[in-house]
Amino acid sequence: MITQRPKGTQDWYGLAMHKRNIIEGIARKLCKTYHIKEIITPVFEHTILFQRGVGETTDVVQKEMYTFDDKGNRSITLKPEGTAGAVRAYLENGLYAESQPTKLFYFTQAFRYEKPQSGRLRQHHQFGIEFFGSGSPLAEVELITLLTEFMKELGLKGAKLHINSIGCGNCRKIYNEALLQYLTQHEDQLCPTCKERMQKNPLRILDCKNDSCKILIKDAPRTIEYLDDECRDHFEELKELLTEMDIPFEVDTGIVRGLDYYTKTVFEFVNAEGFTLCGGGRYDNLVHEIDEKQNIPAVGFGFGIERIINELEAEGVELEAEPAVDLYVGILGKKAKASAYQFVQRLRKAGLIVETDYLDRSVKAQMKYANKIGAKNTVIIGEDELLQNKAKLKNMETGEQTEVPLDQIEKLFL
Ligand code: HAM
Repeated sequence: MITQRPKGTQDWYGLAMHKRNIIEGIARKLCKTYHIKEIITPVFEHTILFQRGVGETTDVVQKEMYTFDDKGNRSITLKPEGTAGAVRAYLENGLYAESQPTKLFYFTQAFRYEKPQSGRLRQHHQFGIEFFGSGSPLAEVELITLLTEFMKELGLKGAKLHINSIGCGNCRKIYNEALLQYLTQHEDQLCPTCKERMQKNPLRILDCKNDSCKILIKDAPRTIEYLDDECRDHFEELKELLTEMDIPFEVDTGIVRGLDYYTKTVFEFVNAEGFTLCGGGRYDNLVHEIDEKQNIPAVGFGFGIERIINELEAEGVELEAEPAVDLYVGILGKKAKASAYQFVQRLRKAGLIVETDYLDRSVKAQMKYANKIGAKNTVIIGEDELLQNKAKLKNMETGEQTEVPLDQIEKLFL
């Protein structure tokens, strides 16, 4: 047990860590050109933030949160997603008072007590963006464009954009009546949680993972048929903009998303198997729900890093390999140790990736090690080499050896 990590968690090291760094690097580079600033919020927040923000009747809040009382008897929750914390930070730090819009990106852990399986973890990681202060569909287009660029740079080709509109509070009132009427006829087929949800929040039934609920949902009325003029115009403008931007999309009236805060647009990028890689949408009422003095529209998305890595593997995309060690500096004899290590440091300062011996190994063992770590070149430094300021540089790929001056060796790598 002591050497076993908790179910649904992952250790990040080696190749997976390298891939994650590349993914984050591409995301950061794109966010920079889109003038989107990074935010880091706490790993835990007051439980009420998620109850209010994500919604009491969602699966996330009802079944999946890691909630506990701290030593001061406050109810604390490990964040199950990134939006609620970002909204809290936007409000608490008065970012709304600055010139709008405010565009924030984050990399965050998220904790959900879900049944662990491929692409579904109890601790996962998201790259997310929250765009505050614009009610225009151009804000959605900005995020979708960035996501399209992001996947293109990663080399992913299989993800398809699905969009839908679930309307605003006004549309929802009329839609809920129609949905309730439909569900009442089939109430006996609903799972116990959904029977409860029927009165409180029938929309949540549409993303229930229970098999019998799923069958029922297929023929349920669709939100898109109940949009008021403003929400319909918004959706039409979004579709026009995407078309003009040459971004392919499919209207998928089945998307409602599993979190309560969405209004109008919801979208997902799904892979060839129909598995969701990234999800997001507009949430024009959430800021107001958390602080009733503010009324600020917003839109955002979250992209699971683990799902990106799975998809890269599924599509056979090879990311850039980790940079190899430029030079292995072997040390011959104790007396040469300090000077050889100074030599190593000089080359590292010049930007070379350099490795050396820390185990007092024999020269033969050092060369074996250099080969194992894939060093491109090796040089062995002993007292003689230091005295004469020259040593044999070996190209490990060709086996070729050349005598080089030690004080100018970095020039060979420029
Ligand atoms: P979400 O759809 O719940 O939305 O999660 C966003 C993404 O996180 C998913 O599309 C998936 O890639 C990844 N994800 C979610 N749960 C897991 C899990 N258990 N294991 C692995 N990956 C997972 C949100 O979280 C919203 N905050 C997105 C958003 C931001 N909407 C507006 N702004």
